[in-house]
Amino acid sequence: MRVDVLTLFPEMFPPVLGASIVKRAIAKGLVRVEVHDLRDWSRDKHKKVDDRPYGGGPGMVMRPDPFFDAADDLRKQEVGKPHVVLLSPSGKRLTQPEVERLAKKPWLILLCGHYEGVDDRVRAGLADEEISIGDYVLTCGELPAMVLVDSVVRLLPGAVGDERSPKEESFRDNLLEYPQFTRPVEIRGMRVPEILRSGDHVRIGKWRRLNALRRTFSQRPDLNDESSNSSD
Ligand SMILES: C[S@@+](CC[C@H](N)C(=O)[O-])C[C@H]1O[C@@H](n2cnc3c(N)ncnc32)[C@H](O)[C@@H]1O
Repeated sequence: MRVDVLTLFPEMFPPVLGASIVKRAIAKGLVRVEVHDLRDWSRDKHKKVDDRPYGGGPGMVMRPDPFFDAADDLRKQEVGKPHVVLLSPSGKRLTQPEVERLAKKPWLILLCGHYEGVDDRVRAGLADEEISIGDYVLTCGELPAMVLVDSVVRLLPGAVGDERSPKEESFRDNLLEYPQFTRPVEIRGMRVPEILRSGDHVRIGKWRRLNALRRTFSQRPDLNDESSNSSD
């Protein structure tokens, strides 16, 4: 997989790309992440990429031309067609099924906004889709882009040490994960459930399933509400 990120803050990415599973996935060649400074495509002598909003109002809006020019240049670097994602609070909410869908794309270009947002012609004429990481407003699209990269990369075959991990995690089958325990057996009067130490894998499997169901229905009953599970 290849991921290109168009951003005003390339310096935000190395700490995230250089740690943990994402770092290993890059080192193994499972994913190539290229972070580009959008100002490199500015036609302005001061490298400006924003301007005042037509119609008035507060703040500045990111101009469309650097995004279009950058995407044109990137497209020349590969044979296939990239899937272009604009990070935006107006986008489709990023959920685990959406992450699974995006993890199948061979090439993503992520567009990070800033200021009051991005000229709407980028959404209409360049992005294949808009993605939001939740119903709140961040200062910029860089953190959402990193969330997207992290969540997608860990699903790439070979990225996570134990292939079972992503298959047993929260949001699979609309369930939260069962409670996890490790040593010590007891802490502050709380003991690890005996069954998990029994070695009986059939009973452990049933206990986990039951407790995943209990946890889901008490903490996230909405996960099984048809209306909140649609990925359309
Ligand atoms: C301050 S926000 C712009 C908010 C915009 N004025 C609005 O009301 O929708 C600047 C940039 O941050 C990014 N951003 C902020 N919140 C986001 C979210 N929840 N999901 C994805 N991107 C977000 C987008 O790229 C956006 O263009």
